[in-house]
Amino acid sequence: MCGIVGYVGPNVDEKALTVVMEGLARLEYRGYDSAGVALVTEDGIEAEKRAGKLENLRSALDAHPLDGSRTAIGHTRWATHGGPTDGNAHPHRGGQDDKLALIHNGIIENFHSLKKGLLAAGAQFQSETDTEVAAKLVGAEFDKTGDLTTAMLNVVQQLEGAFTLLAIHADQPGVVVGARRNSPLVVGLGDGENFLGSDVAAFIGYTRQALELGQDQIVTITPDGYSVMGFDGRPAEGTHYEVTWDAAAAERGGYATFMEKEINDQPHAVADTLLGRTDESGALVLDEVRISEEQLRAVDKITVVACGTAAYAGMVAKYAIEHWARIPVEVALAHEFRYADPVVDERTLVVSISQSGETMDTLMAVKHARELGAVTVSICNTHGSTIPRESDAVLYTHAGPEIAVASTKAFLAQITAAYILGLYLAQLRGGSYAEDAQAVMRDLADMPAKIQDLLGRMDRVKEMAEFMADTRSVLFLGRNVGYPVAMEGALKLKELAYIHAEGFAAGELKHGPIALIDAGQPVFVIVPSPDTPHDLHKKVVSNIQEIRARGARTLVIAHDGDEDVEPFASEVIRIPACPPMLAPLLAIVPLQVFALQLSTAKGLDVDQPRNLAKSVTVE
Ligand code: F6R
Repeated sequence: MCGIVGYVGPNVDEKALTVVMEGLARLEYRGYDSAGVALVTEDGIEAEKRAGKLENLRSALDAHPLDGSRTAIGHTRWATHGGPTDGNAHPHRGGQDDKLALIHNGIIENFHSLKKGLLAAGAQFQSETDTEVAAKLVGAEFDKTGDLTTAMLNVVQQLEGAFTLLAIHADQPGVVVGARRNSPLVVGLGDGENFLGSDVAAFIGYTRQALELGQDQIVTITPDGYSVMGFDGRPAEGTHYEVTWDAAAAERGGYATFMEKEINDQPHAVADTLLGRTDESGALVLDEVRISEEQLRAVDKITVVACGTAAYAGMVAKYAIEHWARIPVEVALAHEFRYADPVVDERTLVVSISQSGETMDTLMAVKHARELGAVTVSICNTHGSTIPRESDAVLYTHAGPEIAVASTKAFLAQITAAYILGLYLAQLRGGSYAEDAQAVMRDLADMPAKIQDLLGRMDRVKEMAEFMADTRSVLFLGRNVGYPVAMEGALKLKELAYIHAEGFAAGELKHGPIALIDAGQPVFVIVPSPDTPHDLHKKVVSNIQEIRARGARTLVIAHDGDEDVEPFASEVIRIPACPPMLAPLLAIVPLQVFALQLSTAKGLDVDQPRNLAKSVTVE
């Protein structure tokens, strides 16, 4: 999730660079691994880029000012392919004499095969990014056609994945061309000047008139106008609208809080985490692997180490990996693992899960595991952070920066990555589910649309939260993959609304916790899909009856079409039907929304709950 800005104005002066730098400052929340700009000046393209925050780019520009221009693009990066270095920072260059500069948000899934073709034709690459492949391709097409829009059109038809591209060319001053597929791009319409941005925050200081683009569209802006066409080359139209948000709200996508935005980002977090996971033969791939396949085949036990929400994602990982890869998995809180006497050796795979990649407890656990000889894999959301650097292999989640302190979209991305890891190990080891991996990946590909559908059904959950603002205690029950969802639902409520909340394995209820149930006690129950093996669905429906009989207010999360729950539910919250193993990606969403709304109803700080820090870098 990177931030991109483009500008064309009437005069050759400082404004183009100023607009782009201001836009990048407002988009920095989308990523801050590096930043870069490129301008078309009288001498051709001038560019500057630096790893790290925008401040580093600003200092470089102060030291070496660029010439005036009326055409500029700028990029703030959230690393996906290639680490957060100067070389991998955007813009990337292409075409004869590097006269083209291009920036990109998203992932080009088929870049390996495109790069092979370019290398065979003699192209030289300066970075490890997928973006540079697009820059070389668009540059070469410009050299053939002499027109940036045509060059972009000819290239986007070859690209797979999700991307927004912006390009400028030294021989076509006063033009910026953008293209989008499954990645955001909006046009800002000015008077004698026009803008492009990942979102309206990029240009809100200059214009409130915006144009929304459709999927698979190319837009060309000049100072005096714009034109839009589809990837099929036919003319198209965007949708005009007026932006009514202030600048701060624009950064939050118009939502009142980052958490609300991040909950609504979840379809993208899952879709982006799934992108680019297969090679040309259809086999699953990890991002960075510094261990041999033999070592991974020899693994006889997996230990997941993580904290908090990430540890609950780890509990889902246990069910998924044991089921698909048939390897025993245990889940340990990282701080407990580190100072216990864990049974770990060179045949143990230690999987760490961390959004920040900097959680000290998790880092210490990974280091300890390596000292004991274990093979280590990190599931992480932050490129270049410490935990992936300390691990033998990495699977990055592509949730984009998570700003609200309490984790939401990172959780869904971590679960998605855990599924991918389970399927990868199943394929590698050739177990009975190896064949099914591609079918499960197809089921996973349906999940973003289901999450989107679910997000549109949250009105009743919000009403329930408002109504329950004075509640002092809420319990959560789940079984199998619903158990970690119950735990995470309780954690969200504790963190956001400061309410006593506890999650239990539903089968454990009769072994003690049922004593907590009395008249009116609210209990969320996460009901597994009716297709779940071992009659688990029936067993959870019985659990609902048991607590209902003792006066509980049963708030039941059930799949569409599951009528068995109706007689025993005080409320039924429906989620789209999906394969049982994938249900956590849906079942947690109403619980996040519930906690968010209840916190809001109590007038609390949703994005920065008391006593918490986003990244816990002390033991
Ligand atoms: C809960 C939450 C924390 C983190 C935990 C691990 O909403 O955000 O429980 O999940 O501190 O953090 P990371 O994933 O950065 O290692």
